[in-house]
Amino acid sequence: MTASGDVAVVTGAASGIGAATARLLVGRGWRVVLADVQADPLVELARELGPAALPLRVDVAHEADVAAAADQAVSVFGRLDLMFANAGVFGAYGPIHTADLAAVDATWAIDLRGVFLSMKHAARVMRPRQHGVIVVTTSPAAVAGGVGNHAYSAAKAGVLGLMRSVAGELRPHGIRVNAVMPGPTATPMNADLAVGDVTAMDRTIELLQARTDGKRPIFAEDIAEAVAFLAGPAAEMITAHTLVVDGGFTAIPGDSRWARGDHEAGGAIFEAGRRAP
Ligand SMILES: NC(=O)c1ccc[n+]([C@@H]2O[C@H](COP(=O)([O-])OP(=O)(O)OC[C@H]3O[C@@H](n4cnc5c(N)ncnc54)[C@H](O)[C@@H]3O)[C@@H](O)[C@H]2O)c1
Repeated sequence: MTASGDVAVVTGAASGIGAATARLLVGRGWRVVLADVQADPLVELARELGPAALPLRVDVAHEADVAAAADQAVSVFGRLDLMFANAGVFGAYGPIHTADLAAVDATWAIDLRGVFLSMKHAARVMRPRQHGVIVVTTSPAAVAGGVGNHAYSAAKAGVLGLMRSVAGELRPHGIRVNAVMPGPTATPMNADLAVGDVTAMDRTIELLQARTDGKRPIFAEDIAEAVAFLAGPAAEMITAHTLVVDGGFTAIPGDSRWARGDHEAGGAIFEAGRRAP
């Protein structure tokens, strides 16, 4: 697959990771259907990106909307090479014993059913060409407790199961299916969570960089690069994979001397505290 002229649908394109990915792809010669429920920022982004971008109001919880996004990619740009099923919300939160089921269902409709529908309609238009890539956005909340709320964590774990299951089905059809797992990324979603203001990016960056190496936070552009890699020819043999882009957030928890690399003196500890040599 050559990057130039390739066609993507990016859901959640109006903001954060989706917007950064749309910018990066268009910058590399892709044409992109920008799909989101937020119409105004979508139109603004489309204006910035020019004729290679097509803004489309899509609610990923609604099948007709998602079907239209896949169909528009084909009718306007000729084909669909990449479905980036990225739209998501933090959704319902609070103690499990007082959970509001309507809010939980609304969260799952976006974060899980929305990804399911994006896969369904990507597969529908990709299978006739026996070619394509689907990338979904999961979260460390899928594999670690205390990172997200319950409904969000369950949905993001569901997304991983879905990704592997659909990757198996579509592998013989030349369609790869992978996930990106962003760590805490400096986007409006996290600004809202961390500071309570979707526009408070400076304060968010300050708070988030403590969760990586302390030098900088994860930016939406870091995730966009991972998506572009998974969508491109260098990833031709990668499917059913979760690409973690988190600066070590998930795999290196805590603040031990090993997590800090602060054990230069070396040594060895054996039974009952015996030191050797
Ligand atoms: N920011 C993080 O730290 C982080 C970490 C792990 C995973 N994620 C995931 O990354 C994805 C993107 O999040 P972000 O941080 O860029 O957040 P964001 O809020 O900046 O962007 C999310 C976008 O999804 C759109 N959206 C919400 N509901 C929708 C719907 N029903 N239909 C279509 N679009 C809808 C929003 O309008 C918004 O533009 C989400 O799936 C999120 O769960 C984010």
